[in-house]
Amino acid sequence: MVNLVIDGKNIQAKKGTTLLAVARENGIDIPTLCSHESVENSGACRLCVVEITKGKTKKIVTSCLYKAEDGLMVETGNERVLKVRKFVMQLLMARCPTSGVIRDLAVKMGVVPEPRFKPNEDGKKCIMCRLCVQVCEHVVGVSALGFAFRGTDKALGTPFREPSSVCIGCGSCAYICPTQQIVMTSTEDTRSICGRTFKMRACSVCGRYFAPEDQLAFISEKTGVSVEDLSVCVSCR
Ligand code: SF4
Ligand code: FES
Repeated sequence: MVNLVIDGKNIQAKKGTTLLAVARENGIDIPTLCSHESVENSGACRLCVVEITKGKTKKIVTSCLYKAEDGLMVETGNERVLKVRKFVMQLLMARCPTSGVIRDLAVKMGVVPEPRFKPNEDGKKCIMCRLCVQVCEHVVGVSALGFAFRGTDKALGTPFREPSSVCIGCGSCAYICPTQQIVMTSTEDTRSICGRTFKMRACSVCGRYFAPEDQLAFISEKTGVSVEDLSVCVSCR
């Protein structure tokens, strides 16, 4: 265990825990966009910044990456922290001016768009956080998504911008995307996502369409359980 102080409060934390997790465990709210418990934090959005004091040194760090240490003094909402966070928020608003999620967060933080940053005009809401790529690769185990091109052309998508042949339509990328850039639409028996439309399997008990057939085939292949045995929805099991 380590002893540290966050916003004047003496706190004991497990060694190796991030400052963000320690703050949350102790009811201290820090805004985030790119942190999700299912995947490793990448420090992409920079919204979770806090100020740490270590001996005579003060610095701004991302709380989702920085680990709790003995004797650390942490401030999560002082003037310097709020200034950096507002700057980050203004950049995010310029990058994704059409994102309702970012706009709502900005309103909550009292941030107004800064005229010195020209708003992006491509209509995209992607903040390049990689959550979708990570969940697809490390949690689902498919790797249907990635980043292509470099610099200002860098964009998230499927290889060669073609519908991915390995995508199973699970929707994990849409669920985890913090800005709703990835859109999933459904009809009763289909689901469309990332440029493909998947046929849904009906529950063999209640008849409700509950999962893409490609996803069930993928699970069957990984687990050895037959597709027929996987064809009952969670409610009917
Ligand atoms: S599409 Fe969403 S989850 Fe993927 S990198 Fe962009 S913002 Fe992150
Ligand atoms: S939540 Fe820490 S950098 Fe995004």
